[in-house]
Amino acid sequence: MDKNMVEIKNLVKRFGDFTAVNGISLEIKEGELFGILGPNGAGKTTTINMILGLLVPTSGSITINGLNMEKHGNEVKRQMGLMTQETVVDGDLTAYDNLEIAAQLYHVPEKDIPNKIKEALDEAELTEFAQRKAGTFSGGMQRRLALVRAMIQDPKLLILDEPTTGLDIQNRVSMWGHIKDMLKEGVTIIMTTQYLEEADALCDKIAIIDHGKIKAIGTATELKRMVGTGRMLEMIFDSASHAEQASPILKNHFRVNPVVRGEKIDAVIEKWEPKRLTEVMDALDRKKINVVSVNVHLPTLDDVFIKLTGSGMRDTASSDYTSDRMGMMMRRH
Ligand SMILES: Nc1ncnc2c1ncn2[C@@H]1O[C@H](COP(=O)(O)OP(=O)(O)OP(=O)(O)O)[C@@H](O)[C@H]1O
Ligand SMILES: [Mg+2]
Repeated sequence: MDKNMVEIKNLVKRFGDFTAVNGISLEIKEGELFGILGPNGAGKTTTINMILGLLVPTSGSITINGLNMEKHGNEVKRQMGLMTQETVVDGDLTAYDNLEIAAQLYHVPEKDIPNKIKEALDEAELTEFAQRKAGTFSGGMQRRLALVRAMIQDPKLLILDEPTTGLDIQNRVSMWGHIKDMLKEGVTIIMTTQYLEEADALCDKIAIIDHGKIKAIGTATELKRMVGTGRMLEMIFDSASHAEQASPILKNHFRVNPVVRGEKIDAVIEKWEPKRLTEVMDALDRKKINVVSVNVHLPTLDDVFIKLTGSGMRDTASSDYTSDRMGMMMRRH
């Protein structure tokens, strides 16, 4: 199905004479996981608040599931679930009661509530803690509770504002699994994140915004192609002296400027021709230079982000080896 769940046209929001959102247009397909990336103050939360109907746009239009936000605000709001960045589960209430109150608030039919809560607790892996106060839960457990609570009224559109910020890698990966479960149920999700490798691993489409404007929009692969059609090459040798000897060979064959650091060489290959790698390997072999590992990859979202916004994200997790590996594991699912 190629139905649009969200259509935003020329969205503008001014606060006094400051323009926070400056003409954003985008479309989100039903069942898609759409990521919004951008540095501090880019306009992400302002955009999300307008989609949620919490802020009135200065101009432009938002249509959700075929309904215009301005005309049908209340009807649209009933089709949305929200998980805010500051996870607000009520710490004095049990997990069960937190969910029950949300279900009543969203007018879930009384007879369906016990079953809905059971399913939600199950999905959040909190069944055995149903009667414990949420305040005694770990950060990850609270976050899972908040996620299933946002889903209690079966929204068509789920909005997650930085759902994994501050979680350790294990809990982040667990959240990714739960977010994927929600997608399988057919919900459309918009999420903001400050972890680039998370957007890369999870999102069907990504918008990079800065100064209230869309800088780029597309799949992670499409965005990476914007950096160029080249490849990042990383080679590790059995010794620093072998790396030194290998450097001119790489330079000749790939026409690059290799950067040697100890046993490791990094290079950006502008024009990628796979056969050159075979030539290099043969040349190294003839000189008895032992290669421990070779890694050729496309530019990362980090490279894209820096190119488009002139700055890195405030978080450095994307250069964290462990989380990168996790990202790759998730992508293969
Ligand atoms: N109510 C307001 N009045 C005046 N200025 C505002 C208001 N809300 C947001 N802004 C400004 O609009 C800009 C965009 O803010 P917004 O919160 O949308 O950014 P963001 O992309 O969510 O940033 P962050 O990553 O820090 O959450 C910022 O410069 C902010 O100071
Ligand atoms: Mg924000």
